Amino acid sequence: MTPIVLPRGFRRLPLAERRAALADALGCELPSALCGDAETSAVADLLVENAIGTFALPVGLATGFRVDGQDLVVPLATEEASVVAAASYGARLLSEGEGGAGIRTEADPPIATVQLFVEQPHNDAEHAVRAARDEIAALVDDAVASLVRRGGGFRSLTGQRVGDVLKVEIDLDVRDAMGANKVNTAGEAVRPLLERLTGGRTLMAIVTNASRRALVRASGQVPCSRLGRGGFSGAEVAQRIVRAAAIAAADHDRAVTHNKGVLNGIAALTQATGNDTRAVEAAAHGWAASGAGYAPLTSYGMSGGLLHGRLECPLPLGTVGGAVGAHPVSRFALRILGNPNSRRLAAVGAAVGLAQNLAALRALVTEGIQQGHMRLHAERLAFDAGARGAEVREIATALADTGRMDVATARQLLRTHRVAHPNRQQQASDDRD
Ligand code: MEV
Repeated sequence: MTPIVLPRGFRRLPLAERRAALADALGCELPSALCGDAETSAVADLLVENAIGTFALPVGLATGFRVDGQDLVVPLATEEASVVAAASYGARLLSEGEGGAGIRTEADPPIATVQLFVEQPHNDAEHAVRAARDEIAALVDDAVASLVRRGGGFRSLTGQRVGDVLKVEIDLDVRDAMGANKVNTAGEAVRPLLERLTGGRTLMAIVTNASRRALVRASGQVPCSRLGRGGFSGAEVAQRIVRAAAIAAADHDRAVTHNKGVLNGIAALTQATGNDTRAVEAAAHGWAASGAGYAPLTSYGMSGGLLHGRLECPLPLGTVGGAVGAHPVSRFALRILGNPNSRRLAAVGAAVGLAQNLAALRALVTEGIQQGHMRLHAERLAFDAGARGAEVREIATALADTGRMDVATARQLLRTHRVAHPNRQQQASDDRD
């Protein structure tokens, strides 16, 4: 098969015609899952260029969260099996601790930073920028007036040489926005003034995704007695979790995987709320790498029969603006969370990251994660073989019993199953409807 060629002027076509042209070029219908409904199609068309449809991800509800004394159900959008179940499990463990408050969190004010890099500044440029602080602040606030009306805007300014370039960093309180757009607007607005003040030329003005001023922390504890599994006592599992975290602190490659597990939950919440997963992951990895080496985002210790867990990282999440406000699913996800402000959403994200990591570590240091994955793999094979509704579990169980994990066996089992339970097929198709 050869790759398709789009007709000239494709990007100027309305969405329906773009789809028709694509179907024409492919010589086949577009999948209905791509085309979705009218509303999501319209949002897709608004959000990206050359839109042809949407890629829907499963959204699941992680349960069992108690964050700062508040019970929460957390929507997670992810294609990865077991993320929702693991987050829920970790949440239940952590939510019993801390005198009933569950996971405790603390989020810094929502500060985002724009960096401007000015080339060939004169010798006194740093001083000139600092001396013009009020003028720069006024210009910034003017550029983001709607933010200022909501209590945000300019907060601080620094200037520093990086080689022969002057780096100017301006911090803004971005309130409930994720902030990148606002600070980029502010950065571009002050460019001409900075050039006048420094005698140099601005190479670029752009948000830094490091987001180190918007840190969030989550901590929780679990009675060790609750952790026993797979022949290990609770105390042994707790010790093994502490050792696993210590290994992540000592070994770069393990730390990367450890943090990937943390981000499984955080990125899924980020996705469900329409936020920028790349910004969140860049900030988390940047933070992890900001010390002597690349470090794990969580740490664990034991005392008084309790396992204590802690997470700290930047979490640049918004609850207004961009896709967050535009997408019906992100608005709905925020509604499930009780319409939090951005700091509370970040706090929930940190709680999810900690719960996700605890559940992963507990599985890893006991029976491993493959056992759970095999069940999901069997269910996937059953689905591929045509099982639907309750049949999926039944065929998956039968498949696991045979020890032959392939779709042909699943098909065979399904045929036999349907002969033995003719009504189940009807029920499965009812489930589908
Ligand atoms: C898999 O998506 C995540 C884990 O690898 C995380 C970890 O190893 O800590 C299980």
